[in-house]
Amino acid sequence: MKPLAKRTEGLKQSSIRAITLMLRDIDGINLGQGICDMPTPGPIKQGAHAAIEADKSIYSYYGGIQPLREGILEKARSFNHIPVDSPDNIMVTVGSTGAFVATLFTLLNEGDEVIVFEPYYGYHVNLLQVMGAGIRTITMQGPDWDIDFEAVEHAITGRTRAIIVNTPGNPNGKVWSRQELETLLALMEKYDLYAITDEIYEYMLYDGREHVSLASLPGALSRTITISGFSKTYNMTGWRLGYAVGPVDIIDKMGLLADLLYICAPTPLQYGVAEAFSMPDSYFTEMAAAYAEKRDVLCSTLEEIGFNVPWPQGSYYVLADFAPLQARFNGFADDEEAQLTLVREAGVGTVAGRSFFAHPEDGATRLRFCFAKELEVLEEACRRLTNAFGQTG
Ligand SMILES: Cc1ncc(COP(=O)(O)O)c(C=O)c1O
Repeated sequence: MKPLAKRTEGLKQSSIRAITLMLRDIDGINLGQGICDMPTPGPIKQGAHAAIEADKSIYSYYGGIQPLREGILEKARSFNHIPVDSPDNIMVTVGSTGAFVATLFTLLNEGDEVIVFEPYYGYHVNLLQVMGAGIRTITMQGPDWDIDFEAVEHAITGRTRAIIVNTPGNPNGKVWSRQELETLLALMEKYDLYAITDEIYEYMLYDGREHVSLASLPGALSRTITISGFSKTYNMTGWRLGYAVGPVDIIDKMGLLADLLYICAPTPLQYGVAEAFSMPDSYFTEMAAAYAEKRDVLCSTLEEIGFNVPWPQGSYYVLADFAPLQARFNGFADDEEAQLTLVREAGVGTVAGRSFFAHPEDGATRLRFCFAKELEVLEEACRRLTNAFGQTG
């Protein structure tokens, strides 16, 4: 048999699935996968239900139904402060992942280089690999995950085409400051680069931090594609609805590509999610406050146990360092062993640190915990962790 396409060579199932199966057998709690198990807001469900009953069952325009694009346009202007003025600046996609794929297809030729900051979200890097892009990783430093802009400039070559920014970030909760984004934009302008920003956790911010969209900075829109979606903010990861905001000419080509890939996002679900824009401001403030409480519960527990915990500035993950536990316990030789030890001893699932770094050894003493769980479930996970690893005095 002839071999499969080269682009499939590096693809393999991550350990997340294996851990999920192990947890199922022992009635464990999964703090690994970034799935929020809270309910989807009622108005969104009712909107989709009504659209299904009304037989709104045919393909939509590839860029999405008009009321939804208008809702996203208004949100991009008022919340993100992006200076867009037409629904043609907006495209609705199958998850924010659909927007990311369409962006890569539209901006990159094979062999083009892209700068990515690590620890990174694995899908960004894996999709870049599938596209045949060259990946340059810049490691964020210290508890605040600072960006070394000299290293960024050093990594830019004649083949560099784009930079990926994920704010608030998965897995480390980094929130880019306005000043950092301004410095980045200056480099983008100097070297004629695009940015692809993944802002899917934009409503999950702590300690009074502000979400700044790169595309809102003067001059940035023409070279920035802003990606977001409904999965996380409205607890609906399985609905697969996201969007991109950008210059009309780029969004237009992205739409044509998305049309070829999957024609359109599911039409009745688009009608449902259009209701997201009728949610009151209190929905977002209450959600952020609830996540802040969950962050406290999880991060304090991990600290009491002895983890070194860089508290996330946003998003709903923490990338904790278990190096201090290695002297106290067996089973923490590296991230994969620690991941199994937490399943075995506490019935708690996490993601091994190596998933977020170009070199596995850079994640060797880290585990990612997700706190997008019902509070009681998270508290139970914390009790189990404390029972298994708590300091006895
Ligand atoms: C940074 C980041 N971007 C995108 C996604 C996927 O989003 P969607 O469900 O909209 O495709 C995730 C999911 O975990 C994520 O963490």
